[in-house]
Amino acid sequence: MNKLVITGGAGFIGSHVVRQFVLKYPDTLIINLDSLTYAGNLENLKDIEEETNYKFIKADITDSKHILDIFEEFQPDGIIHLAAESHVDRSITNPLDFVMTNVVGTVNLLNAAKHIWKDSFEGKRFHHVSTDEVFGALGEEGFFTEETNYDPHSPYSASKASSDHFVRAYADTYGLPIIMTNCSNNYGPNHFPEKLIPLCIHNIINNKPLPIYGDGKYTRDWLFVIDHAKAIDLVFHNGNQGESYNVGGFNEWKNIDLIKELCKQMDEKLGRKTGASEKLITFVKDRPGHDLRYAIDASKINRELGWEPSVTFEEGLSKTIDWFLSNQKWLNNVTSGEYQNYYEKQYK
Ligand code: NAD
Ligand code: TYD
Repeated sequence: MNKLVITGGAGFIGSHVVRQFVLKYPDTLIINLDSLTYAGNLENLKDIEEETNYKFIKADITDSKHILDIFEEFQPDGIIHLAAESHVDRSITNPLDFVMTNVVGTVNLLNAAKHIWKDSFEGKRFHHVSTDEVFGALGEEGFFTEETNYDPHSPYSASKASSDHFVRAYADTYGLPIIMTNCSNNYGPNHFPEKLIPLCIHNIINNKPLPIYGDGKYTRDWLFVIDHAKAIDLVFHNGNQGESYNVGGFNEWKNIDLIKELCKQMDEKLGRKTGASEKLITFVKDRPGHDLRYAIDASKINRELGWEPSVTFEEGLSKTIDWFLSNQKWLNNVTSGEYQNYYEKQYK
């Protein structure tokens, strides 16, 4: 049996990647390595936790000894690395947490992989999952390609950029067989409600204000999370060693237009009067250093690996809202306790 470690598998994107691999590759043991921070939730994987090719290990990637022990014990052939601190606003408040997990944690994983694969790199692969935010901000025109220079602005994107550089350095210096993906903003089921879309879904359900930073003209390229998981699967198995692949939705929305579309769909689904949810939109103080626009040129992964998004944004958003409306217990669980303190501080 092949063995694959997926880090951050209890988080939003990681849980979709774990599910996809567990169900699609029954002859591969999928080891979900996650420390279960506020963003990690084993409820996300309830439906597959009994599968015989799935194993969960609670471990912190900043703990180099524990990571090495796990790697020595299980001898994985592949790593797909998603564990990270992932929220820009939290990185502005606590940058060091991001350095520890995203930079130090990544280097610990690289060291452990290098150590257990020291006899041969044949058939091995370290897939680092990164973000388009490492490329900085675009103006009204243009797209990020795989050749775009790194220019991160937030502590989050600076920590991800740093981890990307370490991954490439391990390939150049030690020959570690790496591959990388840089993806745009994801949305979908299990998205933690600190990020724009699930936060607004939660607030619309509860008739609370929808906080839009600045003038709402900031633009993001949104991709349905299951399409990201499919892209990771394709790149992990068929991508060219040492290369990176940009992944995006060909789907740019200004925040204000996106939230208006969300309000429209939610009014229909909740049986509210047209325009009822839009009244909740509230412009609030801008995020410091807010990147104006992200947009991905995903032509390489499309051309070389035949990947493309499987749903339109309207369809993906509708599926996402339906998931949240049918999983309000999940939403209530993750928004009780510590979330209330975070929300209070962030939006006071
Ligand atoms: P998330 O915050 O939902 O989940 C992160 C997971 O990592 C959680 O399960 C958490 O418990 C785990 N984790 C955090 N610190 C850890 C540590 N020290 N040791 C072990 N586990 C730890 O994040 P996400 O949105 O699912 O993002 C996953 C990855 O994809 C990240 O690397 C992120 O940078 C990248 N990414 C995210 C997006 C997006 O839109 N969310 C877009 C592109 C790339
Ligand atoms: P977010 O979901 O935090 O993702 P990222 O910062 O990684 O792109 O934010 C998406 C966009 O929405 C971004 O331009 C910031 C904005 N935003 C708001 O306007 N209000 C909010 O409450 C949040 C969380 C984000």
